[in-house]
Amino acid sequence: MRRLPDNRLKLTAIRLAACCLALVGLAGCGEPPQTVFKLNSVELLKQEKLFLSGGQSFDDRYSTEIGTILTAFFGTPDQPRVPKVLPEEDPAAEVLSQEKLDAAAGPVLSTLGDNGYHGKGLYREHCAHCHGITGDGAGRTARSLNPYPRDFRLGKFKFKSTPLRSMPTDDDMMQLLVKGVPGSSMPSFRGLLKSDLEALVDYVKYLTMRGQYERYLMAELSNLEEGEPLINLTASGVQDEDDPAKEKYLDSMFDLVGEGLVEDVVERWIDTDDNRSEVPDAPAAMLLDHPDHQALVDQGRVLYYTGGNCAQCHGESVAGNGQTETFDDWTNEWIKSPGVDPFAPATYADFTAAGALPPRPILPRNLSSGEFRGGGQPEDIYLRIANGIEGTPMPAAATLESDQIWALVAYVKALPFIDVDQRLRHKSVNDNAIAK
Ligand code: HEC
Ligand code: HEC
Repeated sequence: MRRLPDNRLKLTAIRLAACCLALVGLAGCGEPPQTVFKLNSVELLKQEKLFLSGGQSFDDRYSTEIGTILTAFFGTPDQPRVPKVLPEEDPAAEVLSQEKLDAAAGPVLSTLGDNGYHGKGLYREHCAHCHGITGDGAGRTARSLNPYPRDFRLGKFKFKSTPLRSMPTDDDMMQLLVKGVPGSSMPSFRGLLKSDLEALVDYVKYLTMRGQYERYLMAELSNLEEGEPLINLTASGVQDEDDPAKEKYLDSMFDLVGEGLVEDVVERWIDTDDNRSEVPDAPAAMLLDHPDHQALVDQGRVLYYTGGNCAQCHGESVAGNGQTETFDDWTNEWIKSPGVDPFAPATYADFTAAGALPPRPILPRNLSSGEFRGGGQPEDIYLRIANGIEGTPMPAAATLESDQIWALVAYVKALPFIDVDQRLRHKSVNDNAIAK
C-alpha cells in the first residue's frame, strides 16, 4: 500500500509556528508568521460558477478539503515540504531540495547562516512584495505594475529555452534572476550569492508545483456528483480529522488525488534539460558588416508582412499596435467565465473581490524600442520567434524554416535603427510586390 506524508505534520507545523513567533520576536521585525497559504479563491470561484451554471449547488467544504490536502503534501509558507508521494520512489526529490526550500522560505532573517545561504526568508525578502507569499503574482506592489508580476500557480513561463507547454530548465530560471526582465519591473538579482539564487529557483518551482496541484484539485471537483466530497471520508472509515484512522485517510487521499500530483505536476519538472530547443547556427550574414546582411534584413521585412504574419499583431509600423484587445492566459483563465466582460468592471466585481487583479489587455511588443524582455541576443530572439511566448498571443512560428526565422531576427534587430516613415514605405513596397 502506498503511504502518504506522515500524520505528525500538524504537530510539526504547530511547533514550527511557535518557533517562528519566537524568532520574529527576537528579530523584532514584527512580521506575522505565515502558517497557511492563501487558497486560490479566484479559481475556486470559477469552479463554483461552473457548478451553479450547471444547476448544481457548491459545497463550501471543498475549500477546507483542498487546504488540508495541500498542507499534507506541501507544508506551509514557514515550513515547506518537498511533496513525498510514493514511499518506494520519490520523484519530487529529483527536482526540489528540502535544504534550498528551507533557505528560501520563512520569515526574513538576513544574516549569513552556517547553512551556506544568506540567512533565511530569501523569497519574502526579495520577491513576495511583487509575487505574493503563495506566488499568486498579487503581492502588495503588484497592482501598480504593468505587466503584473507573474502568478506562478498557472505553471506557465515565458522566457525559456524549452518549447511551449514545457517547463523552463533550472538554468533558464537562473539566467532570468541574474538578468531580470528588461522593460518590466522584474529586477535583476545579480548581486545575490549563487547559492541564494539556486534556493530561490527551487522555491519558485515549489510554489509553481503547489499552485499547479491546487488547480488540478479544483478541476477535479467538476468530476464529482452533487454533494460528493473530494475525498470520501466515510468510505475510508474516518469520522473526523482527529480519528486514529487518519493513516487510512491519508492512504485513501493518495489513491484519490496523489496520482494526479505525480502525473500532472511533478513529472513535468523532471529532466527539463532534455527538452531544450535546438537553435541552429546563425547564418554568416547575421554579421552587420557581411555583404549579404542587408539582403537578409530585406528577406525578414517581407516575411514580417507576409509569411510570418507579424504585422497583424505588432502593427504595420511595428509599434506593437496591431492587436490590442486580447488578454494573456493568466487573465483569460477567469475572464472567460459566464457573464464576465473584461471591459465592464461591474461584471467581474466578485472576481476582483476574490483577489483577481483588474484585467488589462496584453500589448504586442513595440519592436522599434530595442528592448527585449527575454534577452536581446540573436539566439534569444530566435527562440522567442520559433517557440512563441507561452501564456501570451505571441505564437510559435510553426510554418517557417530556420533560415526564415534568422531573417526575421535580423529584421527585428535592425528595426530600432529604421525610422517609422521608412518602415511604412517598406510596407507599401511589399504591398506592390504582392499585388504584382
Ligand atoms: C518589483 C516587482 C518584482 C520583484 C521584486 C520580483 N519580480 Fe519576478 N516578475 C515581476 C514581473 C512584473 C514579472 C513579469 C514579466 C513579464 O511577464 O514580462 C516577473 C516575472 C517573473 C518570473 C517569470 C519569468 C518567465 O519566464 O515567465 C519569475 C520566475 C520571477 N519573476 C521570479 C522572481 C523571483 C524569484 C523574485 C525574487 C528573487 C522576483 N521575481 C522578484 C516582478 C517582480
Ligand atoms: C497573435 C499576435 C502576435 C503575432 C502574430 C506575433 N506576435 Fe510577437 N508578440 C506578441 C505579443 C502579445 C508579445 C508580447 C509577449 C510578452 O508578454 O512578452 C510579442 C512579443 C514579441 C517579441 C518580443 C520578445 C521579447 O523578448 O521581448 C518579438 C521579438 C516578437 N514578438 C516578434 C514577432 C515576430 C517576428 C512575429 C512574426 C513571425 C510575431 N512576433 C508575431 C504577439 C504576436
